[in-house]
Amino acid sequence: MNTDTSADSGTTSVLLDPARYGPWAVIAGGSEAIGAEFAHLIARSGINLLLIARKPGPLEATAEAVRAHGVEVRTLSVDLIDPSSMDTIAEATKDLEVGLLVVNAGANTYGHEFVTGDLAAFRTVLTLNIDRKLEITHLFGGPMRERRRGGIILLGSVTGFAGCTHMSVYSGAKAFSRVFSEGLWLEMREHDVDVLGLTAGVTRTPAMARAGLDFDLPGVNASDPADVARQGIEHLADGPIWVVEDHWDKAVTRAQFPRAEQVLAEAAEVAAMMGR
Ligand SMILES: NC(=O)c1ccc[n+]([C@@H]2O[C@H](COP(=O)([O-])OP(=O)(O)OC[C@H]3O[C@@H](n4cnc5c(N)ncnc54)[C@H](OP(=O)(O)O)[C@@H]3O)[C@@H](O)[C@H]2O)c1
Repeated sequence: MNTDTSADSGTTSVLLDPARYGPWAVIAGGSEAIGAEFAHLIARSGINLLLIARKPGPLEATAEAVRAHGVEVRTLSVDLIDPSSMDTIAEATKDLEVGLLVVNAGANTYGHEFVTGDLAAFRTVLTLNIDRKLEITHLFGGPMRERRRGGIILLGSVTGFAGCTHMSVYSGAKAFSRVFSEGLWLEMREHDVDVLGLTAGVTRTPAMARAGLDFDLPGVNASDPADVARQGIEHLADGPIWVVEDHWDKAVTRAQFPRAEQVLAEAAEVAAMMGR
């Protein structure tokens, strides 16, 4: 990995080595916000991209913008909830040597009190955040292990450090993601493959805006999607977990015992952010 500082913006731009993480990268959820920012950063390193998302319009628009970096960019419009989505992804990538995988799609799609909620809707949260995350990691991680090179970034959340009202399933899935990332990191480091559980806090994404979150409430420390992606690339080799800097203190606090204290504090904070 290589860092240079661009004189005009003063921001650090991180370049990945295509011989280690190329020639192709796959981003599941690569059309907007954090995923699109990852696409630009990876393309700047000279690594080709396959971007996956549902809506073809934003997907094509992002792909077109990313092609300006001079790499090949393919798109795949698929709903990861769909049971056939993994067959579609496997078919679309059978001629690609994938050296970098980013599993970004995974925001909460159904918030409700658990026992009165719709079990089928809860299952879609698990399908996206657990089943697909495992399957896509299995698909691309196996060949990386054989080649003894590559990187895997799995998006997590500080929500995964404490259960929360109306989000018990989502926070549980993010806790799974964190612990899974740790085990995978242990296994893959034996084979020179980097694994990073990139743990974001509140981030200014369209999905969060659609969920009704007020980013401007006092005390809400919302990250910029570009900053989250930059930290993911910069700390790819610093696994198993990297908590996005703005949210490090919160993750450390929420991981503490006694749990009731932390869980009640988290619930109060989320209720205020959601205007409940
Ligand atoms: N935003 C936050 O405050 C925050 C906080 C902590 C952690 N995170 C984590 O960061 C990641 C990104 O979050 P986000 O807020 O940007 O929202 P997101 O909906 O998880 O991700 C947006 C990207 O994923 C695609 N996508 C979403 N659902 C999909 C599906 N079923 N099939 C295929 N593609 C899908 C979207 O395009 P389409 O809509 O066109 O499919 C878009 O490209 C998530 O894993 C989330 O848990 C976010």
